[in-house]
Amino acid sequence: MGQLSEIGIVGAGFMGSGIAESAARAGLVVHLFEPEPGPLAASRERVAASVQRAVRGGKLEAGAAGELVERIHWTAELGELEPAQLVVEAITEKSRPRPRSSGRSTSASTAR
Ligand SMILES: NC(=O)c1ccc[n+]([C@@H]2O[C@H](COP(=O)([O-])OP(=O)(O)OC[C@H]3O[C@@H](n4cnc5c(N)ncnc54)[C@H](O)[C@@H]3O)[C@@H](O)[C@H]2O)c1
Repeated sequence: MGQLSEIGIVGAGFMGSGIAESAARAGLVVHLFEPEPGPLAASRERVAASVQRAVRGGKLEAGAAGELVERIHWTAELGELEPAQLVVEAITEKSRPRPRSSGRSTSASTAR
């Protein structure tokens, strides 16, 4: 793998949006996936508000802020993460599929 330039993030909540902003600030192209339009829109607003705070606080120039936001591609299509060299998962625990081994260990403990 060459130098990292493009990443994907699954889950555009608190962590996913923050990781997206940090990665875009570092110059990476980010594909940020959320299946539902509501959280997707909330993520755009969250990042925009955070970037505006950084501009107001003198931590980021307005031009750089615009470029940062343009590097983030919010999407409800999982396939759009395909160009990413690295994918980060930032979804809620209860959405994660249970590992098959956990069911087996539960049965084993119950049998004791
Ligand atoms: N918030 C924190 O301070 C913090 C700190 C350390 C670790 N974490 C961990 O990071 C993870 C995310 O936490 P968060 O605070 O960002 O949660 P969050 O609820 O703000 O965001 C999770 C997002 O994942 C989305 N999502 C759920 N299922 C999905 C799926 N199958 N595909 C794509 N998106 C899906 C939800 O719609 C939501 O927008 C959790 O595992 C949490 O424990 C959070």
